[in-house]
Amino acid sequence: MEHKNFKLAVLVSGRGSNLQAIIDSIERGEIPGARVALVLADVAGAPALERARKHGIETLFLDPKGYAGKSEYNQAMVEAIQERGADLVCLAGFMRILGPGFIEAFRGRVMNIHPSLLPAFPGLHPQQQALDYGVKLSGCSVHFVDETVDGGAIILQSAVPVLDGDDADALARRILEQEHLLYPRAIRLFMEGRLTLSGRNVSEKEN
Ligand code: GRF
Repeated sequence: MEHKNFKLAVLVSGRGSNLQAIIDSIERGEIPGARVALVLADVAGAPALERARKHGIETLFLDPKGYAGKSEYNQAMVEAIQERGADLVCLAGFMRILGPGFIEAFRGRVMNIHPSLLPAFPGLHPQQQALDYGVKLSGCSVHFVDETVDGGAIILQSAVPVLDGDDADALARRILEQEHLLYPRAIRLFMEGRLTLSGRNVSEKEN
């Protein structure tokens, strides 16, 4: 079933390879009816912005320095996203912790992707954390965003092996391949109304 005009807002701070995967998946017709209505960055020169422009997607840089404090900045993001009528907010390498005002405005409609098998290794440098700990499997998680850091309900996960001789870059590359498959799948499930949240548990309805 086609869900006409399902609008995504994607928040970015850097490279934007997950944004690219989402755009490419939409352009291949894998998330029918969805479009990226806004790419919002907190970093002026984020390469992700250029990726969006190449696909004719509206971009917006909001400079955190232009606001009195965190809550004012969060409010500005909320307004920009609401003005575009976004149905879902996807964090894709967005390096800022969202405040309670933001979470409240879009409760249950904000997703993030994190390059570890949560709840292992939240926060910064999860690939290095995985190597330092010595795990044999790592991977990525798409989860709903709540007030905690990388602690919201898990939607989908994908595992990859940690191989002898891996450094953080090698492991990150292996995980990233899975990220690019996982995020579009999670968006599609959400859009189709197939995700049910009960406490911490997200279940997936059959199509
Ligand atoms: C990805 O590894 C993502 O899981 C993490 O930040 C990285 C962003 O990469 N949250 P990119 O900007 O999507 O290329």
